[in-house]
Amino acid sequence: MVDRRLAALLPEAHVAGDLGAALRYSLLAPAKRIRPLLTILAAWERHPNDLAALDAGCALEMVHTASLILDDMPAMDDTPERRGQAATHVRYGEDVAMLSAIALMNQAYATVAGMDCIDAEARCALVGILARAIGLRGLAGGQYADLRPNERHGASGITETTHLKTGVLFVAAVEMAAVVHGIDRDGSERLRRCATELGQAFQILDDLIDSRSFLASGRQEDDGKSTLLSLLGQDATHRQLQSHMDGALRDLQPDGALAGFVRSIFASVARLPEAV
Ligand code: IPE
Ligand code: IPE
Ligand code: MG
Ligand code: MG
Repeated sequence: MVDRRLAALLPEAHVAGDLGAALRYSLLAPAKRIRPLLTILAAWERHPNDLAALDAGCALEMVHTASLILDDMPAMDDTPERRGQAATHVRYGEDVAMLSAIALMNQAYATVAGMDCIDAEARCALVGILARAIGLRGLAGGQYADLRPNERHGASGITETTHLKTGVLFVAAVEMAAVVHGIDRDGSERLRRCATELGQAFQILDDLIDSRSFLASGRQEDDGKSTLLSLLGQDATHRQLQSHMDGALRDLQPDGALAGFVRSIFASVARLPEAV
């Protein structure tokens, strides 16, 4: 359903030549869709089976995809593959990749601004959530800190960078659900705490997977990056992961769809190959 809606929210395939094609190529490639699912399932904590927040979740997936296009470019992580295919800049060139990231972020704003199932005040609140999630105290600031860590970049610096580059978008996902469904302050705060912990746990999992994929491919992702894994080692990092997973589940309905989803994200931890 998320995939179908994402396809419908993009301009027709023939619009803007390679630029339009690059948007569809990056956004519609197979991906986990964790952020839109988080928006929808956060809403389901209070309003089961309600899909009013679907477009808000899709907007976040557009922003997330744009951040991945930029993250892979040579000036950033310089990664040639993404989502099982050539990275957008490899397939379409750096010029088109940059423009496609800008176009995707703006399509995200257009998407929430056009949600006619909610009133103008709520639409405006969604635009604000997106803008803050992308800005200095969100993705842009987090990616900057990731690329240019300062000397004091110990565990707390890494945690803060992770929050900005990854966690803030997770928090935005649940805040959007809260706005669309008018969830009260207490309920929103619980969801925010869950999303904050989930962001930390998710980035640790991603770093563990990247470090293991080195075993298979010989190519070290993000070589030289300071991560909790490189700072603390395997055992302490696994303990941190467990503690953030517990934190993410703490305030959720134990048998609810959101708790089930959070557990399913981390089910792969048990299947990670042993580290060398
Ligand atoms: C990758 O995100 C970037 C991180 C924040 C670690 P995902 O692992 O959600 O990537 P996709 O969307 O499934 O490709
Ligand atoms: C990505 O972090 C976070 C973004 C905001 C794009 P990483 O650089 O660790 O993600 P991967 O490993 O490239 O997916
Ligand atoms: Mg990166
Ligand atoms: Mg990267």
